[in-house]
Amino acid sequence: MISNKLPKMFYGGDYNPEQYDHATHLEDLRMFKLAGIDIATINVFSWALNQPNEDTYNFTWLDQLIDSLYESGVYVCLATSTAAHPAWMATKYPDVLRVDTNGQRRKFGGRHNSCPSSPTYLKYSERIAHKLAERYKDHPAILVWHVSNEYGGECYCDNCAAGFRIWLQEKYSTLDNLNKAWNTNFWGHTFYDWEEIVPPTNLSEHWGNNSSTFQGISLDYSRFNSDNILHGYRLEHDAIKAIIPDSIVTTNLMGAYKPLDYFKWAKHMDIVSWDSYPGLDTPVSFTAMAHDLMRGLKDGQPFMLMEQTPSQQNWQAYNSLKRPGVMRLWSYQAVAHGADTIMFFQMRRSAGACEKYHGAVIEHVGHEHTRVFREVAEVGRELQLLGDKTLDAVTESKVGILFDWDNWWAMEKSSGPTVALNYLDQVHKYYAALFRRNISTDIISVDSDLSKYDIVIAPVLYMVKPGLAKKLEDFVQAGGSFLTTFFSGVVNENDLVTLGGYPGELRKMLGIWVEEIDALFPDKRNKIVMKDSLGDLQGDYSCGLLCDLLHSEGADILAEYGEDFYQGMPVLTRNKFGKGEAWYVASDPEDNFIDGLLKSICDAKGITPLLVTPAGVEVSRRSKDGQDFLFVMNHNAEEQAVELGSLQFRDLLTETDLTGTVQIAGRGVQILEVK
Ligand code: GLA
Ligand code: ZN
Repeated sequence: MISNKLPKMFYGGDYNPEQYDHATHLEDLRMFKLAGIDIATINVFSWALNQPNEDTYNFTWLDQLIDSLYESGVYVCLATSTAAHPAWMATKYPDVLRVDTNGQRRKFGGRHNSCPSSPTYLKYSERIAHKLAERYKDHPAILVWHVSNEYGGECYCDNCAAGFRIWLQEKYSTLDNLNKAWNTNFWGHTFYDWEEIVPPTNLSEHWGNNSSTFQGISLDYSRFNSDNILHGYRLEHDAIKAIIPDSIVTTNLMGAYKPLDYFKWAKHMDIVSWDSYPGLDTPVSFTAMAHDLMRGLKDGQPFMLMEQTPSQQNWQAYNSLKRPGVMRLWSYQAVAHGADTIMFFQMRRSAGACEKYHGAVIEHVGHEHTRVFREVAEVGRELQLLGDKTLDAVTESKVGILFDWDNWWAMEKSSGPTVALNYLDQVHKYYAALFRRNISTDIISVDSDLSKYDIVIAPVLYMVKPGLAKKLEDFVQAGGSFLTTFFSGVVNENDLVTLGGYPGELRKMLGIWVEEIDALFPDKRNKIVMKDSLGDLQGDYSCGLLCDLLHSEGADILAEYGEDFYQGMPVLTRNKFGKGEAWYVASDPEDNFIDGLLKSICDAKGITPLLVTPAGVEVSRRSKDGQDFLFVMNHNAEEQAVELGSLQFRDLLTETDLTGTVQIAGRGVQILEVK
């Protein structure tokens, strides 16, 4: 449980009353009660209020706000306010301003853009975190500490360049090692002095869109940048912990956010929290995958849904409203995948600036008689009913999907074989096939313990880090089923090709040799022709994007290409290795094929759906103290029939007993406790 003081799912979110007068704040408190709001995230962007100049701090307004919330029964998620530096700081100390990839230094404005290496920023952000911790260490209102806000982006200033060189020296010790790792004899890039190394930008190795002429330096800069921003977070985190050792400290992450290696970040967070902003056209399976990734960051530990919009966003091109019921549905989808809080951005709409048309619990009209407020209050009532029932419940999965930021960076920085390769899409394709069948899946890192899984899937495992091949071999040898796809096993952790034939270190386990890799134009397809039927798979399937031209070195050939000069070469192989099997999918298939393939691999392992449901009805499970909770979520607008079988369930939201065939309303949710 995040806090014994509030033994239920926290319900509330970002609250910025400093944008309004006191009478409005009192109205807010009245309405919070009506909606069952019991937590407010405050002080996210108030650095300028807290520190009006270099020598003055003023927390009186914050004292009053925290007290007034607490007296009204609202707990606090206290931010450190360092997500936007004050104007005076930027004017006096330009080192807080980031430099972009074209070498331009920013002016004051915007947010989330302080240079992570700035001595000024680091000094004052740590200091204010320290002051806040000192001041509020004994305040009973505070449940969680929220450092900064949505860290991200990059900086290429001289301070960052100097930090990068130190980071490189720690990593490589000698320039000789670095020159080898980056293969600098290519294009005469040999470095003879550390000072010669400059960050990869549009002025050096990049040409827009993050394409790089030197993947080694670019990859290391991504790693450095993630570590460097993390360093700033850790200073604030440690400042709070030094004063309140048992505090819960987090920062709000952004799901599958490319610039930061969240597996590394999560090690320094007491609880993962994240902001979920799917578009109305985002596949619900993609949102589910993002939740599972967030749950995977701390090895399955429940997380906080820190932000979502109750109705619409402002920053998309077309900010459609969440249709009636969708906010509730997506809230429970987060819970179904491991969230123990439901929180919003934001409690009341701003009157000015760019977020005035962003959805909020309290609309501009200012009263509670709105659709959005009614829907929020309805969920608030349900959460009181649920109490602590599902808190801390975990997800048990027999299938793990490997996800790796270094692999992501490396493959998408690669010049060739295709610009169309998108790691997230590839991971999502395999995830979605499991999602469609209600098969519980964990997203895992290369450091995860594989022994608890029966199946491990690593879409496009382009980079094989030290020790990983052996770890996967051990997994398969012990009886596991492993599946990877085209363009895998190609490089080591420095993006240097593993010579001697693809898929390099995975070659023995997969029992194949990939001789060439063909990239298809967007309008070109090839065919996967099954040799025999395999479960539901038979006949032809379409494939594209990349086609590996491979030879079996012992693997069974289950399907062959149907077209082009490599017609008849293997496209789906399975190699028996020890007690297990290693599968290779040599191209990018249509969804039907992935559905059938994963079904057959799951069937062989006895992994069955949680429930068999109509399309668009998702089922996810959490378990606690031997008690299972099935979340049944109808993403369709129309009612659907779901077959529960002979088990007896209690729907915790309606407090009714269910069994056999039941109807679930369009966009409806059931939380079923197995009786
Ligand atoms: C992010 C930020 C919030 C707000 C929302 C708007 O999640 O953390 O401050 O800007 O986006 O969607
Ligand atoms: Zn910088």
